[in-house]
Amino acid sequence: MLPPAGEPCYIGTDPAATERLLQQWRPYQAGFYASGTAALAAAVSAALAVRPGRRRVLLPGYGCPALVSAVLHAGGKPMLVDLEPERPWMQRAELHARLDGGVAAVVAVNFLGIPERLQELAVAAEAAGALLIEDSAQCFPPAGLAAGVADCIVLSFGRGKPVSLLGGGAVLCRDPALAAALPQPRPAGGRQRLRLKAAAYNLLRRPGLYWIPQLLPLGLGKTRFEPLAGIVALDESRRQAVGKAAADFLRQQPHGQRLVAQGPARVAGLTDVAAVCGGASRLLRYPLLAPDAATRQELLVALRQAGLGASALYEHVLPEVDAMPCAPLVHGELAQARDFAARLLTLPVHSGVRPRHVRRMQQVIETVLAASLPRWQGERKEKPG
Ligand SMILES: Cc1ncc(COP(=O)(O)O)c(C=O)c1O
Repeated sequence: MLPPAGEPCYIGTDPAATERLLQQWRPYQAGFYASGTAALAAAVSAALAVRPGRRRVLLPGYGCPALVSAVLHAGGKPMLVDLEPERPWMQRAELHARLDGGVAAVVAVNFLGIPERLQELAVAAEAAGALLIEDSAQCFPPAGLAAGVADCIVLSFGRGKPVSLLGGGAVLCRDPALAAALPQPRPAGGRQRLRLKAAAYNLLRRPGLYWIPQLLPLGLGKTRFEPLAGIVALDESRRQAVGKAAADFLRQQPHGQRLVAQGPARVAGLTDVAAVCGGASRLLRYPLLAPDAATRQELLVALRQAGLGASALYEHVLPEVDAMPCAPLVHGELAQARDFAARLLTLPVHSGVRPRHVRRMQQVIETVLAASLPRWQGERKEKPG
């Protein structure tokens, strides 16, 4: 049974590598936090502080519920924007309509390695007097880092993320005034036993043992809103390990991604999300759109039965995520985000994915799509355009 995402986690203390990373991030200045959610909350707090009188924060209507936790914790008002058809990007017309003088920040989310249109969003945000926050929790290095497009960039070092320390996050701020407005985190407490945790994690994510964590009540693969309890600093052991973990990640070759791109992603009837968005250098999982919601469910069941690590990711638009507090959310129909949520399927691309797994993925997908072909081809004919 393949895990849907993530690489084994190796903790190597190398403060010099962390120092090198900080140099590479310049002119951005880094603040480290206990999670990506805390880092995003810190970034939003800073944006609200430097844009007094503005409270609204624009987010995509489909995404990680941590986006909402972070904005609410920072005291902002989350305003959800629908997506472009078959893209993880915020819909241009709706974004412009919502981007008024009450907006403090726009959060541009890099979806599994597919960057948002950062240059365009930076121009729109600046024209409205808002800040641009690049949420690069799912992508390393951040797409806008070299060109310095965003006012600040958020990273996550959580489980299944590109640079994983089983927890942690960072905010990179371009402007020293914004960096100075970041909230002071509470100190990290207690011994972390990080190497022990990493060893247990690495053992249990092996294909032969992955059924064990799936049986435990850990909520793996379940999407649920969790309020952020507080903004805590990154512990020292993780801070010293960040640089080495980043360097290790950059050395890995994305073989799994290449295999999936050349095989399962090309099966007729599926939409390769990265390809239609103009490509992605490094994907965390391989996102595909099934022809319709019913076929997505059939694909998920068949791929899961074959132990191939497929997932539906968040499954719902943000207002419909389990335990989501809906009252503070402002949004419209989110029609395209709903369609995306209902049709999305991700395939694993981590280093445990072998050619035989990818061949099996392709067989399973071809079988399901052939059986459901009359239904989805009929639906396509009915849809104008
Ligand atoms: C886009 C995005 N932003 C923020 C976060 C929060 O990161 P963390 O899990 O480290 O709190 C995540 C986590 O999955 C994410 O996917």
